[in-house]
Parts: sequence; C-alpha cells; structure tokens
Amino acid sequence: MTSPDLAERPGALDSRPGAEWWRTAVIYQIYPRSFADSSGDGIGDLPGVTAHIDDLVELGVDALWLSPFQRSPQKDAGYDVADYCDVDPLFGTLRDFDTMLDATHARGIRIIVDLVPNHSSDQHVWFQAALAAGPGSPERARYLFREGKGTHGQLPPNNWESVFGGPAWTRVVEADGTPGQWYLHLFDSTQPDFDWSNEEVREEFRRILRFWLDRGVDGFRVDVAHGLIKAAGLPDYTPPAEADSMGGEEPDVPYWGQPGVHEVYRDWHRILDEYTGDRALCAEAWRPTADDTALWVRPDEMHQAFNFPYLQTEWDAAELRTVISESLRAFPAVGAPSTWVLSNHDVVRHASRLALTAVNPQGHGIGPLSVGKPIADVGLRRARAASTVMLALPGSAYIYQGEELGLPEVVDLPDDARQDPTWFRTAGERYGRDGCRVPIPWSSSAPAYGFSPTGISWLPQPATWAALARDAQIDDPGSTLSLYRALLAARRERELGGGSLTWLEGYPDRVLAFQNGNVTVIANIGSAPFAVPHGNVIATSGPIHDGMLPVDTAIWLEVDEA
Ligand code: GLC
Repeated sequence: MTSPDLAERPGALDSRPGAEWWRTAVIYQIYPRSFADSSGDGIGDLPGVTAHIDDLVELGVDALWLSPFQRSPQKDAGYDVADYCDVDPLFGTLRDFDTMLDATHARGIRIIVDLVPNHSSDQHVWFQAALAAGPGSPERARYLFREGKGTHGQLPPNNWESVFGGPAWTRVVEADGTPGQWYLHLFDSTQPDFDWSNEEVREEFRRILRFWLDRGVDGFRVDVAHGLIKAAGLPDYTPPAEADSMGGEEPDVPYWGQPGVHEVYRDWHRILDEYTGDRALCAEAWRPTADDTALWVRPDEMHQAFNFPYLQTEWDAAELRTVISESLRAFPAVGAPSTWVLSNHDVVRHASRLALTAVNPQGHGIGPLSVGKPIADVGLRRARAASTVMLALPGSAYIYQGEELGLPEVVDLPDDARQDPTWFRTAGERYGRDGCRVPIPWSSSAPAYGFSPTGISWLPQPATWAALARDAQIDDPGSTLSLYRALLAARRERELGGGSLTWLEGYPDRVLAFQNGNVTVIANIGSAPFAVPHGNVIATSGPIHDGMLPVDTAIWLEVDEA
C-alpha cells in the first residue's frame, strides 16, 4: 500500500513547496527495540510506536526518526540489514509500518527512517552470493574483497581497525575449503562494506530510497554518511590512542569524509526532489568541525547533518559559545540549518555524559569499572540546563527517546546482559553503547515499567527508574518531562527554530546569555549563583531562589523593558 499524499489527509501537514519543515523541526528519535513492546517478547515493535503516538503529540515534537526496523539478524541491533525493503518480524510487518505512518501523519507528525548504505548484513543475499561466486566475480565486486598480504595471503590487506575494535578485515573460506580473500568491514565482521564505486550498488540504493519514498516517508537519516567512499589503494591508517569510535575528531582518515562521497548525496537529493511534500535527508557524519560537517548540507546535498561538534562539547561556557557561534556561521553559509543534538543511541546519555570526570571517547561507554563515573544529580541538573539551551537555538533539534524523562546512562548493567558488538570485539575493554539503550519507563508500577506487557525487557531496567516513568512525571510541574513540554510549546509558539541568536553583552564569562526573538536565555555554567534580570519566566531548568539562578541552571525569560 502506498500512503496517499499528505495534503489529502485529515490533519494534513504543511507540504507547500518552500515550507521546509526540516529547517526548524524538533525530531524525536525512536530506538524501536527499546521504545514500547506490544507483543511481550521484551523487544519494542512498530505497533508499540503506534500505541504511543498521542504521547509524542502531547510532548510537542514535529517528526520522528526511527532507527532500523528492517529485516536483520540483529548483530548490531538492526544496523546490519539483510533486506532493506521489509520489516523484521521482531518489529512487525510492512502493514504495521503503514498503520504507524498513517496514524503519525494523521496527527501532523512526519516520519524519517534510517538508511544504512555503508554496509549490509553478511546474511544479505548479495553477500551470500559474493561468498558463493568466488574471487573476481561481479558478485564480489559489490563489496570490498581483497587478497591478503604475506606469502600465503595470510595477513589482512591493510592495518585498518574496526570501529567496534579488532581488525576491519575478515578472511573467507572459499568454496573448495581453502582460506581465501579478505573482506572489509568498518564495523562488525557481520557488516561487510559495500563498494560504492560500483554502479550496481548505487542503483540498488536508488531503488531502496524509492521504495520508502513511495510508501510515504518524509525522509531518511543516513547511517555512517561520511564512510561510503574509501581512499584509492586503501592506504594504512592508525588512529590516535583513545580516539572516538566514529573518527569525530580526526581530520584526515582514508575511510571517513573522502570527497567522492558527496556525489552520492547529490544523486539522492535529485531523487527526493522527484517527490512531492518536502522530503529530507539527514547525515550521520562525525566530523571535527561545523565547517566540515556543513559540507554534507550544501544546497544540492543533504538537508540536515547532526551537529556532532556541538554534542561533543563539554559543559563549559566558553566552548559552548564558540561551537554555537561557529555552527551559526558555518551552516547558514551553505544555506542549511544547524541540527542540534545532545543524545542518541551511540553516545553516553547527556544526563550522565555532562558530569563525567574522565575522558570517555565516543562509543566506548561507561560501566561498573570505569573511572570518572558521573554523579547522578549533577548530571541531571546539567542535562536539563543543556536541553533548555539547545531548544532555544535557531535551527532543527533532535531528542533521543528518554531524554525527556531525564534518563541517565545505565552504568551497572551486568556483563552477561551486554549486547553491543563493541563489548565482545574488545573483550570487555570497552563497555560500548548498551547503557543508553535500556528500554524506557512508561508506568511506575507496571511490569517492565509499562515497556512490555510481560515484564520482559531485552536489557534490564534499573530499580530506580520507577520515579522516572512517564506517568510519575506527567503531572509534576517540576519534572523533566514538564520542562521539555514547556520548552517545546514555547519554542513553537515563539518560532524560535526560525529565529536568530544574538549574544548578550555584560554577562560573566561563565554565564551563557543570548537573545532569540523575545526570549532571553541565560545559563549559569559557573560556580556561584547569578542574579537574573527581572522579567516573565517562560521556563526554567531548576528552581530560582530570590531571583538568583543556581549553578548548572538555565532559564528562558521575557525581560521587562528598561
Ligand atoms: C551508526 C549507528 C550505529 C551503528 C553503526 C554501524 O553509527 O548509529 O548504531 O552501530 O552506524 O551501522
């Protein structure tokens, strides 16, 4: 079934040409396996999403991004796709997808889906055909097979490391039982990289884009968008010690940010333009600076690119001022919005990350034996303040499920519960990303906090989460959920997403102060309370005492005219 054009629906979205919803939208990331489980198997599913759409309407978001739900052996939680055009039975059926999409659109909310073009699952028919067909075949040419080094080809073709740890190459056994070629996998060995210099690969992804566009999706979040093209000759590369997993701080890597990647997105942009209704592409491209990230959103490429330089900025006023200023110069310089983000399914949740006291590279995660573990109440206070700042910034913003509840990273997951390939490929040296993926709590007294009717949950939920459940927060004006609802309502009403930022003069260095429209935003990142100007308080991330803004607190004010 193809979804009818948005304009024909009740509650139709604004799909006029030029409306460009993605420039200002607040987009809520659903990580389906941890959102809501309707079947009771302990893994969230698409009917679970449909059942909670009204809760997301009430929260006040404009669109949803769904992490992968396509057919997959789930070796990397669905980022190992075996069939790009079907729903994995774990999550439901294509009919469930259509029902969810229709229900979402009927409420004026858009949906973007995850597209994973850098690699497939090793169970994809193409990879199975490549194994069977042997060296030199057109089937192998869809992936990156190479002969090994050494007299018997027993050494990998180069020294690249997998993002999840260990070598980025695996040797296959050929049909006659002898050790054979090696294939490249920047991620797990079950995730072979495609060869994007092969026109057949390009054509296949055009088909996949059209499949979902025809079904009515509003766009795609593009996984590993900086990784598709590898430098000619696959030269050796050694990352710095303690590097971020996705290369976010390395300028010059033979598999990240190669110039040829941009032509792929120009091609996709033209495909999206064939469709009505303002569809959008969002790049997951981990790059060192806003200027570099902005290359992905030049006018004929993608529409959004996650602002990871912002996500990776510490809780420090000077650094925040710099990254925000650079972002609001670099993205508009190419005609794009900045796409703000603080959390997702690959990073330590910001309610914990902002209170870490030791370096923690992206992707490494934290666990029971980590040094520099966060103090929970400091983390939550900072997270609420950081979100209060982010949601006042002009541009688009992404929220990761559960951050509106103030969920922390789960640090004490038992070893035998962990599932991230990072944990296995580094023999437990890196905890990985499971701690930000624990199923979210809906109801404080229900089994699995309302996540699943049977009480089963694919990762164990902490005993402390009853107090964080949605139903425990919804009527509490001081809760994190109430804060997000207030911020999102005021952001929409005052059109802050389409506004502009002016830094305010005369504030101490460690106080961030800016104006967007009629809203004055002040964040105290110092060490002593700060006296705020008189005015109408629109929202505050924590209690104000006698006109003093406490440390790690942010406020939105309509300041009285002098
Ligand atoms: C992206 C995803 C991450 C996944 C990886 C490999 O970074 O966000 O979860 O493991 O790509 O697909």
